[in-house]
Parts: sequence; C-alpha cells; structure tokens
Amino acid sequence: MSRNILITGGAGFIGSNAVRHFVNKYPHYKIVNLDALTYAGNLANLKDIEGRDNYEFVKMDICDFEAVSTLIRDKKIDGIIHLAAESHVDRSIADPFTFARTNIMGTLSLLQAAKNYWQPMGWISESGAGCKFYHISTDEVYGTLSPEEPEVLFTEDTPYSPHSPYSASKASSDHFVRAFHDTYGMPTVITNCSNNYGPNQFPEKLIPLFINNIVERKPLPVYGKGENIRDWLYVADHVEAMDLVFHKGESGRTYNIGGMNERTNIELVKALIQTTDRLLGRQEGEDLGLIHFVTDRPGHDARYAIDSSRLREELGWKPAVSFNEGLEKTVRWYLDNKEWLEQVTSGEYAEYYEKMYSNR
Ligand code: NAD
Ligand code: TYD
Repeated sequence: MSRNILITGGAGFIGSNAVRHFVNKYPHYKIVNLDALTYAGNLANLKDIEGRDNYEFVKMDICDFEAVSTLIRDKKIDGIIHLAAESHVDRSIADPFTFARTNIMGTLSLLQAAKNYWQPMGWISESGAGCKFYHISTDEVYGTLSPEEPEVLFTEDTPYSPHSPYSASKASSDHFVRAFHDTYGMPTVITNCSNNYGPNQFPEKLIPLFINNIVERKPLPVYGKGENIRDWLYVADHVEAMDLVFHKGESGRTYNIGGMNERTNIELVKALIQTTDRLLGRQEGEDLGLIHFVTDRPGHDARYAIDSSRLREELGWKPAVSFNEGLEKTVRWYLDNKEWLEQVTSGEYAEYYEKMYSNR
C-alpha cells in the first residue's frame, strides 16, 4: 500500500537514521521530512538520500499550526512519525520554556492539524487502518529507578514521574497523544525508549561529546561520581522497532524499547576510552587520565532500565547490535567523519560548550 508519511525531526540524530531507513526500505512510500533545523538539525545527515524521488525535505516549525495544517492537507499525509523535539536534559535545565513550546505545544499543533484533516476524510477508525500518529518518547518520563533494586525495570504500567524539564515536557506530550486517542478516537501509538547512541548524534550527549574530547585530549566531564545508570540502545535497533510499531502497533497502545544494556556512566566512559584509544592507534587506556569528575547535574536521575517484553512478545522485536559492537561502530563513525564533527561543533555550539563546562 502506498502511503504519505510525515517524519518530524528527521534532520536530527534518530530522525535522520529513521528517514534513511523508511526512504530506502519503502520506495513506494512518499516520505516528507519536516524539520525546523535548530542547532540539532543537520541536512548533512541525509546527503545520501537528498535526490530520491520518494523523499522531500520541508523546513518548518511544528509549532506553526497554520503551516503544518496546510502541509498535511497538501501532501495528503496519512501517517505521522513524530520525533521533532528539544532533546537535551542539560539545555532543558537552562531553558525550560523552549522545551515546553516545542515538545508540548508543537506536539499539540501536529495532533490538532492531523485530526482536522483526518476526521472529515473519514480515516479515523479504532483499527488505525486509515491513518496513524506515532509519537516517539523517552523512558525518562517514568522518573528514576533505584540502583539497589536491579530487578525492578520500567514497564508500560510504571506511573509517570518526570524530574527534569525535558522529561516533564515529554510526559506532557505523551498525555496529549493519549488524550487525542481517548477523546477523538485518533489512532495513536507511543514508544518510550532508553538512551540511543550511534552515528549523527549531536556531540552534546555523553557518547559523542566524550569521543570528540578523547580525540582532542580534552577533559571528560563526568557528572557527580559517575554512578548513574543508563540503558543504551544502538540507534539502528530503535529504528527497526519504530518500523514495527508504525506498521503493526495497536492503536492506543504504548511500547517500551530498551537495549538490556545497563551501564554506570563511569563503566561506559572507560569502555569508550579503551575503544577510542585502540581505534586511534594509541595505547589502550592511555586516555583514562582525561576523566574529570565535575559538579553533578541537578535532579540527576539515578537509574533508567527498561522492560521491553511487550514489544518483543507482541511484535517480535529484538535488538541486533551488541553493546561492544555498537560502541565500536559509533567510535569508528565519528573518527571517519571529522568534517561533520567540525561543522557541528563550530559557531554557536562552541559558545554553548564554553558556558556549560568552563565553570564546573
Ligand atoms: P535531536 O535533538 O538530535 O533532534 C531533534 C530534531 O528536531 C532536530 O533535527 C531539530 O532541528 C528538530 N526540531 C526541534 N525543534 C523543532 C521544531 N520546533 N519544529 C520542527 N523541528 C524541530 O533529537 P534525537 O536525539 O534525535 O531525539 C528524537 C526524538 O526521540 C525526540 O522526541 C526525543 O525526545 C526522543 N528520544 C530520544 C532519545 C535519545 O537517546 N536521543 C531516547 C528516547 C527518545
Ligand atoms: P545524556 O547523554 O545527556 O543523556 P540523558 O541525560 O538523557 O540520559 O547523559 C547520559 C548520562 O551521562 C547522564 O547520566 C548524564 C551523564 N553525563 C555526564 O556525566 N557528563 C556529560 O558531559 C554529559 C553530557 C552527560
């Protein structure tokens, strides 16, 4: 079946990996990538698919309700995969308004624009056969787990308890998506995923920031004692899950996505140093001295860990890339793409980095 799919945030990290996947795998779909190209959006991420017949890029702000409404109507959009967001916790602490605007109001703008087009078309049905709104969210909406109870994981029934302005804004957007399902019968599906890593991730997030710093022999600012735990998933495995959920996910349902790869930050950073040193031809572990413990992030969640059995059992998903393999692929990608790194770390980002880390 031919479809007209709108992917928002497609110039960002996960979005660009998703756009490439859908454009390559579904030549009979028309993929429209809507992105405002904020500091985190970069069309260089999609150079290889730029000229494809089934791909189109539109520069637009999801909060611009009139423009989004017109686009959805003109392009006869029948499926939305919504990734556009402000995504970095540290930035949300410094500037929560931007997060509320994009993540909450932007999601609402898309939902309302889609409903206004889909309802009169008669596409809104409980089965979700005519159209679908797929919202990409985070495990951070569930709050934090205790490192002392390793058997406890986030399930889809874990109550929401967000702590950072980022996770509060994502939680709010999840609630709006559910409200559109429950109130208007809109066919929606939500996934809550753990920390992603891989190519094209903006180097303000832990893994790419630290790879870049190891290469340049700059200090690695580990927050607090480095004991916080995150669950890591290679981005291609997230994209495979997205494909399954978009096509087969049950309307009104939520699916958790996780890698079963819990690591304390300090374990992760040490593994990253070993791998990067090895691939640079340095002595393995030579750069361990770059680790620098700095003031902790306020409200820093202790542990995230995901139970993804619903997705595994109902839709047959399982991650294909092991943690060691994923880390090696990621480090290699950053070492092979120095120009990309230089482009995104110059200009405005250089000022942000200076402000963020100079007084810690
Ligand atoms: P990212 O910051 O790399 O990319 C976000 C993209 O959204 C950028 O291209 C940016 O230009 C675009 N954007 C921002 N504001 C916009 C606006 N107002 N209108 C249109 N476009 C706008 O983010 P990411 O890491 O790729 O995350 C994508 C989605 O996945 C987000 O919704 C995030 O909450 C979610 N998520 C991320 C992770 C992770 O580990 N990165 C984990 C779980 C869920
Ligand atoms: P991050 O990549 O920002 O993702 P999130 O906060 O969404 O989990 O951070 C991952 C972990 O690494 C988190 O516990 C915070 C920590 N961290 C540092 O210790 N130093 C840093 O410079 C950054 C960016 C993160």
